[in-house]
Amino acid sequence: MQNVDNWNRLYRTQGHSLPWCVETMPFWFTEVVNSGWMNPCKALDVGCGVGNYAFHLAEKGYEIVCVDHSETAIALATEKNSHPSLRFVIESTENLGALGETFDFIYDISLLHHLKPHQRDGYAGQLSALLNAGGKLMVCVFSDDEARFGKTHEFMNPVTGTITSLLSKEEIVSTFEPYFAFDKLEKIPFDNYLRYLCLMRKKEVQ
Ligand SMILES: C[S@@+](CC[C@H](N)C(=O)[O-])C[C@H]1O[C@@H](n2cnc3c(N)ncnc32)[C@H](O)[C@@H]1O
Repeated sequence: MQNVDNWNRLYRTQGHSLPWCVETMPFWFTEVVNSGWMNPCKALDVGCGVGNYAFHLAEKGYEIVCVDHSETAIALATEKNSHPSLRFVIESTENLGALGETFDFIYDISLLHHLKPHQRDGYAGQLSALLNAGGKLMVCVFSDDEARFGKTHEFMNPVTGTITSLLSKEEIVSTFEPYFAFDKLEKIPFDNYLRYLCLMRKKEVQ
């Protein structure tokens, strides 16, 4: 709860000027969208923030349920990015099953590194359960190659004021590999941080 309060305060005080609330889609995102790896379908945006990415995809024909645990983020998203193909829902990653529907494509941009390490496996399992057969998952997450934070895998994030993780390739693979096959797992520079861009598809037999 305290964590949600923190996110609400950030959105209330800084709103659309928070550094991740970008209007222009980053190069890596545009590249994936244009690559044909995914195509317009029913999608889930987990940790949607103010919904800029979802709006961009809605304009391309995707139908998206956008979830965030911050009611302030969802209020900003609903106000700014209202679109007939978007539905905004206040929900936590702990309870995604409550959505009661399944998807062809799920994406998480910059949420996973805010979960505690012990929450990751349950999260990956939930995402798998929410995907239809053959469904795809895109995750963009902080990489542990961030020399500025030394050897630690967790740091106090100066922007969010929360303990945030830097994930190694091994941690990403062990989190998702039981449920997903990797099409891509590569390091990309984005927003002043090194990230991993992960493109996965749901395994048929887990
Ligand atoms: C760094 S922001 C990224 C927002 C958006 N994906 C973007 O890139 O613009 C992380 C978002 O995840 C949300 N979030 C963090 N932990 C969450 C959780 N356990 N359940 C749902 N949302 C969460 C936060 O409220 C925040 O909006």
